[in-house]
Amino acid sequence: MRTSFVLNGKNVSVDAPEDATLLWTLRERLNLTGTKFGCGIAACGTCTVHVDGKAIRSCSMPVSGVEGRAVTTIEGLGKNNDHPLQVAFQEEQVPQCGYCQSGQIMQAATLLQANPNPSREQIISHMNGNLCRCGTYNRIIKAITKAAQEGHS
Ligand code: FES
Ligand code: FES
Repeated sequence: MRTSFVLNGKNVSVDAPEDATLLWTLRERLNLTGTKFGCGIAACGTCTVHVDGKAIRSCSMPVSGVEGRAVTTIEGLGKNNDHPLQVAFQEEQVPQCGYCQSGQIMQAATLLQANPNPSREQIISHMNGNLCRCGTYNRIIKAITKAAQEGHS
């Protein structure tokens, strides 16, 4: 089954089985491996990407669901991996193993788009569904706050 959509600003058309998820299509057919598999049941946030500007769990969306829509992955968030959140996450040395981090950043990006100056409580509430096995939560909050304070939304 063929699905056509805009991926990181470029038109793509991909063949995938009818039951293929967006996550595995991105990783295995489009070679974008920055989006990670965690739970596969929309419960951890590791696979978060944007569809039409909204953060979604790509493990639980069929690729057919993005026909004609705009998908952004971590590879397309900043031109040279320099999105303000990516910079702040590096400066604050947020990652430990790193596995959850692209999902964390994609989730955070939609917060700053909607609310350039979120409170600590708003950050925690928005990020609540994104789990980190390494427990980097305090540094995640710090980095999002930094990106917001520096006007990096
Ligand atoms: S892998 Fe998609 S939410 Fe966990
Ligand atoms: S940095 Fe290891 S899971 Fe989050």
